[in-house]
Amino acid sequence: MKVLGVLGSPRVGGNSDILLEQALAGAKDAGAEVEKIVLSKKKISGCLDCGKCNETGVCAIQDDMLEIHKKILEADSIIHSCPVYFWAMTSQMKAYLDRWCAFFDAEWQWHKAYYPKMKGKKIGLITVCGDPNVSTADPIVHSFKTTCEFSGLHWLGVVQASAAVKGEIAKNEISKKEAYNLGKKGAST
Ligand SMILES: Cc1cc2nc3c(=O)[nH]c(=O)nc-3n(C[C@H](O)[C@H](O)[C@H](O)COP(=O)(O)O)c2cc1C
Repeated sequence: MKVLGVLGSPRVGGNSDILLEQALAGAKDAGAEVEKIVLSKKKISGCLDCGKCNETGVCAIQDDMLEIHKKILEADSIIHSCPVYFWAMTSQMKAYLDRWCAFFDAEWQWHKAYYPKMKGKKIGLITVCGDPNVSTADPIVHSFKTTCEFSGLHWLGVVQASAAVKGEIAKNEISKKEAYNLGKKGAST
């Protein structure tokens, strides 16, 4: 069982990172092999909608997303963690998500070669917003959850937390436990 953590915050050691680490600890304790990708440390351009991947299944943009595509295919579960930036996901996370385009054909079906690995892949999400009202992150949840429903991915669930100052979430035992449990769920069959 492989669980991949994807960090959408550029603030390494920040709130989303702390909760993602909790999720990966939960997955590891449940016996999974875990890996974390910090998107801000990678070069990931936005999708160009050039359509080349519709034919080939391979993205035409030569950047770090090609290596991440392989890691997505190999993972059993992927836990994303992202702060709210202007009522939406960060630009790093959006560029990453748009590049999932490469897995689909022109009819938005999984490419045949990828279908066995993508079907039922488990997807989880952690959001952090400065606003005390955690539903501020609902647009991010909508984006990930709808992508799962649309494409037959398995939605593991979401942890929505609130914190503003870097590292502040470390004091929030409830959110940390929720994130840990999400990771644990990601590691179960
Ligand atoms: C550019 C920018 C935009 C932000 N926009 C919002 C927002 O719209 N709503 C909100 O509640 N918090 C907003 N925040 C606050 C972050 O979501 C908050 O500080 C969060 O804890 C950051 O998580 P991190 O430590 O994982 O980076 C914004 C922060 C930045 C830097």
